[in-house]
Amino acid sequence: MIVSTPCSLNSLLVGLFLLSGLGQAAINLPSSTGPCSVTLHASELVDKSRTDPYDPTGGKRSIMVTSFTPVNCGSISSASYIPNATAKYEDAFVQPFGILPGTFESLRIQTQTQPQHSSVYRDYPVVLFSPALGTSRLIYTLLLQEIASHGFAVVSVDHPYDAGIVEFPDGRTVVGLLGNITDAEWLPALDVRVKDVIFLLDQIHDKSVVRDIFPLSRGASHTLSLDLDHVPIFGHSLGGATAAQAMLLDSRFVGGINLDGELWGSVVDKGLSKPFLIFGHTGHNQTNEASWASFWSHQRGWKLELSLAQSLHYTFSDFPVLVDGISLSDEARQLIQATYAGTIGALRGKQVVTSYITAALQYFVSNHTSELLSGPSTSYPEVTFVTNQLHDI
Ligand SMILES: *[C@@H]1O[C@H](CO)[C@@H](O)[C@H](O)[C@H]1NC(C)=O
Ligand SMILES: *[C@@H]1O[C@H](CO)[C@@H](O)[C@H](O)[C@H]1NC(C)=O
Ligand SMILES: *[C@@H]1O[C@H](CO)[C@@H](O)[C@H](O)[C@H]1NC(C)=O
Ligand SMILES: *[C@@H]1O[C@H](CO)[C@@H](O)[C@H](O)[C@H]1NC(C)=O
Repeated sequence: MIVSTPCSLNSLLVGLFLLSGLGQAAINLPSSTGPCSVTLHASELVDKSRTDPYDPTGGKRSIMVTSFTPVNCGSISSASYIPNATAKYEDAFVQPFGILPGTFESLRIQTQTQPQHSSVYRDYPVVLFSPALGTSRLIYTLLLQEIASHGFAVVSVDHPYDAGIVEFPDGRTVVGLLGNITDAEWLPALDVRVKDVIFLLDQIHDKSVVRDIFPLSRGASHTLSLDLDHVPIFGHSLGGATAAQAMLLDSRFVGGINLDGELWGSVVDKGLSKPFLIFGHTGHNQTNEASWASFWSHQRGWKLELSLAQSLHYTFSDFPVLVDGISLSDEARQLIQATYAGTIGALRGKQVVTSYITAALQYFVSNHTSELLSGPSTSYPEVTFVTNQLHDI
């Protein structure tokens, strides 16, 4: 069973940040690279119909969400890094290191063009995201910002008492209770998570709540237009299991993605009639993950299982990028790569994961298929097609 290890991850994060002296100097984390700028907004949502089963005072279930809203979508074009004569000059300079002639000429940069006025009014598909057990939704901020920069209005959710800590707008905090989860606690935890995301799906169909979650949709100017009729859901680890089980229980979700999570609940034996992508880390696939094998044999909708080389469970989070951003000893860096982050490289990992997520989301919301989903790509040699079903692509 491959599960997250939230306690050790959290203590590792705390250790890292102490070590790097975070709080003394600002560290600018890398921004998103897609054609849209992205704004973030956090909101608290209270489900008055549910008593929180974990709350010792028996209060109503209250969740925190963050919206990632694409704005000013232009387009990305590719340009030469440097012109040819300069490239030849630099090539000659690095040839003693065995770098082939023509290398500098082949380097490209991505540049952003001005947005088309009309693109401001496009319907951005709304997508829900659920994090790993014990892990804050905020540890996926860079990943979700990147996805939103490609034109998706992403809403991430924290599941209080499951997440290591949840901080509400009034400053109160809820510390996680499931750090040392027992076998008997998985299904109840899944049940609470699934109710959280279905509640969130209900809430985004309530016009007054949408204005709270997406402040840009306020007012008469209608600067933001959302597609609420084709909502996919994805998640990491137990969040991926949450996506699958929520799709089984609520037919409004149009498709789902599980990033490296063991599946739980009745969906394992029932499968889905909607499209579903499983993206696993190296060596974690349906040959050794019984829940995926069972789900696969019952899945009736479109399905694809991918494997990411040189990755580990937390490659599918911001963790590798955070570790890259802070100063660390080589020893500490290697230890983290070997236990959590993988060796794929933080920015490369983020780029590869985002490319496949956005291709799948695009397929779920529009039926628009991408070459990326139909077979291995020379642009992404790190991704293996473990198994797929081509008929629907
Ligand atoms: C630079 O070299 C490339 C590859 O040889 C060629 O395709 C391109 O036209 C050249 N650009 C200019 C501006 O000469
Ligand atoms: C989990 O168990 C370990 C070892 O028994 C303990 O040190 C740790 O505090 C526990 N964590 C939580 C969140 O209960
Ligand atoms: C699936 O996992 C097994 C066990 O880790 C590994 O030997 C195999 O190469 C993996 N298959 C793929 C396609 O990645
Ligand atoms: C996608 O195609 C399927 C069948 O091919 C259809 O049932 C579904 O409504 C389509 N979805 C969208 C968003 O057009």
